[in-house]
Amino acid sequence: MLVTVRQLLAHAQHHGYAVGAFNTVNLEMTLGIIRGAVDANAPVVIQVTETTIQYAGLKPITHIVETIAKNAAVNVPVALHLDHGRNFRSIAECINAGFSSIMIDASDLPYDENVVLTKQAVDYAHKHGVQAQGEIGQLKKADDSIAALVREKYMTDPIEAESFVKATGVDSLAVAIGNVYGIAKMERGAPPLDLDRLNHIHGRIPSVPLVLHGASALKPEAIRLAVNGGIRVINIVTEIEHAFTSRLRHTLQAYAEEYDPRIILEPSIESVQRLVAQKLRDFGSSGAAKDFLTGQAAKG
Ligand code: 13P
Repeated sequence: MLVTVRQLLAHAQHHGYAVGAFNTVNLEMTLGIIRGAVDANAPVVIQVTETTIQYAGLKPITHIVETIAKNAAVNVPVALHLDHGRNFRSIAECINAGFSSIMIDASDLPYDENVVLTKQAVDYAHKHGVQAQGEIGQLKKADDSIAALVREKYMTDPIEAESFVKATGVDSLAVAIGNVYGIAKMERGAPPLDLDRLNHIHGRIPSVPLVLHGASALKPEAIRLAVNGGIRVINIVTEIEHAFTSRLRHTLQAYAEEYDPRIILEPSIESVQRLVAQKLRDFGSSGAAKDFLTGQAAKG
C-alpha cells in the first residue's frame, strides 16, 4: 500500500526503530525492494535521485513504484521520496508528481546559504503537504583520502543542527557522524560512527527524526547503536546496487547461452529481496507493518 513518509516516520518515532530507505533505478530493483519489505513485514521508503529521474523519466519511475506498492505490497506500507534533491526545479516536479517527501541537499554550501536554500524547499514542500529532509554537516567518500581528524571537521555540529532545524523547519535531518559514501566500503568496511556526537544531536532535537545516509557496509551492531541513538531512517544504495550487479555478472557467466532477460534478471531481483529483508530486520523494523496497519485501522 502507498502511504506517506510522514506516516512512516511518526510510527518509527513512536516505536523506536528505523525505516529502511532504499534507492531504485528500475522495475527490477523496485520489485526486489518491495518483495524484501513484504518478507520482513516492514514499512519501507523507496527513493529515487535526480540522475535516476534523468535515466528512467519521472513519470515512469513514479508509476513503477506506486503500482508495485499498491499491487505487490497490499499489507506493507511503502512511501516515495526524492533523495539528494539539489535543484529546486526537480524538487518541485517530484512534489507535483505526488512524492510525499523530498530531500533538499545543500550541505556542501556554507551554513547561511544552506539555510536559505533549504528553507525555500521546505516552504514549498509544506505548502503542498509534503515533508522535507535537510542535511547539515557533509558526507565524504570512503575512498577520499581524508584522515579521520579532517573528516571530523565535516561532521554535524549538535548546536548547529539545532539552529538549522529551527531556521529551516525541516521535518527530518540527515547527519554526518562518521558515515561515508563509496563502493570502497564494500572491501575495506565502513569507518566507525561517532555515537557520542549522535547522542548530543538527538538530545538537542529529540522530536526530529535523524537520517543516516551512507549506511552500506555498517555492521548490524553499529546500526543497532545508531537506532538507539535516534536514527529513524537508514539509507542504503551501494549494497543493493552491488547485490544486483554482482549477481547479474554471475548469471551472465553461468548462463552464457540464455537470451531471455527475465531469466537473466530474476536472480538479481532475488538478491536485492534477500538483502533488503535482512537489512530491515537489522533496522528493528521487521513486523512493524502489521502494527502500522492495525494503528491505521483503529484511526478509521
Ligand atoms: P550508501 O552508498 O552507503 O549505500 O549510502 C547511500 C545513501 O545514503 C543515499 O542517500
